[in-house]
Amino acid sequence: MNELAKQDPQVAQLMKLEANRQKQGLELIPSENYVSPSVLQAMGSILTNKYSEGYPLKRYYGGNEFIDKIELLAIKRAKKLFNVEHVNVQPYSGSPANLALTMAVCQPGDTVMGLNLIDGGHLTHGWKVSATGIFFNSVPYHVLSNGRVDFNEVKLLAKKHKPKLIWTGATAYVYQYEFDRFAKIADSVGAYLVADIAHIAGLVATGNHQNPVPYVHLITTTTHKTLRGPRGAMIMVTKKGLEKDAELPSKVDSAVFPGLQGGPHDHTTAAIAVALAEAAKPQFRRYGTQIVKNAHSLATALMNQGFKLVGNTTENHLMLVDLTPFFGPGGGYFAQYALDQAGITLNKNTIPKEPSSPYFPSGIRLGTPALTTRGMKQKEMIRVAGWINEVLTEINHYRLPSDKKDRKTYLAEFRSEVNQNRKIKRIKMEIKQFSRAFPIFAW
Ligand SMILES: Cc1ncc(COP(=O)(O)O)c(C=O)c1O
Repeated sequence: MNELAKQDPQVAQLMKLEANRQKQGLELIPSENYVSPSVLQAMGSILTNKYSEGYPLKRYYGGNEFIDKIELLAIKRAKKLFNVEHVNVQPYSGSPANLALTMAVCQPGDTVMGLNLIDGGHLTHGWKVSATGIFFNSVPYHVLSNGRVDFNEVKLLAKKHKPKLIWTGATAYVYQYEFDRFAKIADSVGAYLVADIAHIAGLVATGNHQNPVPYVHLITTTTHKTLRGPRGAMIMVTKKGLEKDAELPSKVDSAVFPGLQGGPHDHTTAAIAVALAEAAKPQFRRYGTQIVKNAHSLATALMNQGFKLVGNTTENHLMLVDLTPFFGPGGGYFAQYALDQAGITLNKNTIPKEPSSPYFPSGIRLGTPALTTRGMKQKEMIRVAGWINEVLTEINHYRLPSDKKDRKTYLAEFRSEVNQNRKIKRIKMEIKQFSRAFPIFAW
């Protein structure tokens, strides 16, 4: 870091400011986390210098003796942790992993089914502007007004459209994913079933979520959310997958390389191996359990303050707050901005049967993985809920103009008023002080 500060003070200074932001605020975005010093060290290593196109012992470049061993170690650890038959650790991130998976089992134009984006699904499960929705025939399914997947609809759509592939998993879903119910439907129409466990991988690894392995053919995951590794991803093939199609491992591998990618990011592969070893330790098991306890405590505290939660619950690490009672439709923007100014980071999010739009949604999404990494427990969640309530009560008179032309000026005024708000400034100081007791590792 000192070398960087000497050579490039501009970048070093911005990194320092970002480190301070991470230390002094409360990170509630459910897809974020703080990695360990060991993961960070592997990421920031000389492994970034290397090219290794291909797979272990079958590379297109020389000098891969040690890289091969690192990749094989990452694969071995992932297979053991998740109890799967085959793992590819090369996808650059979750989105390319999901596109590669689709390419592995579908031809362009084939039908895929996934949870609609606005209902909590991910872009790469077939949303119309994603490559997975442009090059494949995407048939989305939806949630009911309580936020649960509408299994009647899934069944009807599967029967009617005979998809090649069905996605389970989501980016904003407050219940346990019901892999068993999806399996019945996918098996009845002969579809491949894939679980995208990007959000819940850490909870699956620690036994705090139903395990998809007995039910699905394929699993994708990012490695940087609850799994607490570097930004990366993995694609896994289960025993059930091999039984359906013995070629799945080679189909997956050739879809990743050369189908979609070139050289793997070897520094990321090493950091994934480190994170997987961490995730196999007893303290990580305790971490997974604490994430869920904290989510429950935060959800209860928010409901006690009068907030309306989608489904009135959380069964995993995240919750969705329906802010329509506070702001009417489209209030997520106000909440995200004002909370950010107070040092609480979360994201605006659509709610089931969203009355507004994805850019101006009516809810917020928040979760506990990052705060749990900092050592916070149920007691601290109650304080966090209190601050959220104070900030939102302070701004609950704002309303999103229904005429789009009026929004720019209105929002600029809103931001300027929030920036000057003394109560929000006071809360930011309180949070800064509070955060000191829960240090994070940073260079
Ligand atoms: C369920 C799910 N799948 C895939 C992804 C994509 O991951 P990435 O952002 O690494 O491309 C995300 C990211 O938010 C996600 O929530």
